[in-house]
Amino acid sequence: MIGVLDSGLGGIVTLKYLLEQIPDTSFVCLADQANAPYGDKSNEQLFQIAKRHIKWFESQNVTTVLIACNTLCSTVLPQLRQEFPMMHLIDIVTLTCEDLMEEPLESLLLLATERSIQSGVYERKIQKSHPTCKVYPLAASQLVPLLEQNQPIEIIKKVLHEYLDEYQGKVQSVLLGCTHYPLVASEIEKIVSARTYDSRHAIVKAIPHEHLNQREVKIYTTLDAEQTQQQIADLLNMNDPVVQL
Ligand code: DGL
Repeated sequence: MIGVLDSGLGGIVTLKYLLEQIPDTSFVCLADQANAPYGDKSNEQLFQIAKRHIKWFESQNVTTVLIACNTLCSTVLPQLRQEFPMMHLIDIVTLTCEDLMEEPLESLLLLATERSIQSGVYERKIQKSHPTCKVYPLAASQLVPLLEQNQPIEIIKKVLHEYLDEYQGKVQSVLLGCTHYPLVASEIEKIVSARTYDSRHAIVKAIPHEHLNQREVKIYTTLDAEQTQQQIADLLNMNDPVVQL
């Protein structure tokens, strides 16, 4: 069984893609909605939170965990790897940047959480592979809370316009550097008139296949199971049961 960890819906967005792409492998996804958003927390807070969850995966005999959270990957992942040397913790930021290497990027809006942008990890890796690409880093701190709180799409669109109007026609591509953002990818593409990239395509090749005849899917939330079940039905058309941890 492969673990998937995020602060909430971003992990389930990623899980949905993995379920479609890898039919023979079991997944256990932990959506830590009680602590969302991660994007405005300190590195110490993020480390303590993630440490608790990795321990939980360990207690479930899950030894491979996809860290489906750009914020954790760009901040505390090296510390987590030191703390859990026996666990295989998969880094979606590195995978995404490797996946982008062959893309002809000229100008890129890098949209991510405050902590991810502040870490500079994405920016450094992209500039290394694409030295002439003009990268515009933008922390879209309001987006994750709005998505997690099920705010109406009209409110979300208004906030997206506030963030993005100035980039319309200015960038050729947008990197969705947060696993929640694919939920509003089409709105972002419309406003900026540019194509979007995200982490989902990149991660598939890093997931070990289990070759099971029948797989299991478990989804846990640290908040309200009924609410999460409704959210994933509405936003992702998923009917898997959700259990409160
Ligand atoms: N979805 C996560 C990410 O990719 C975390 C977002 C948050 O909780 O702020 O960064």
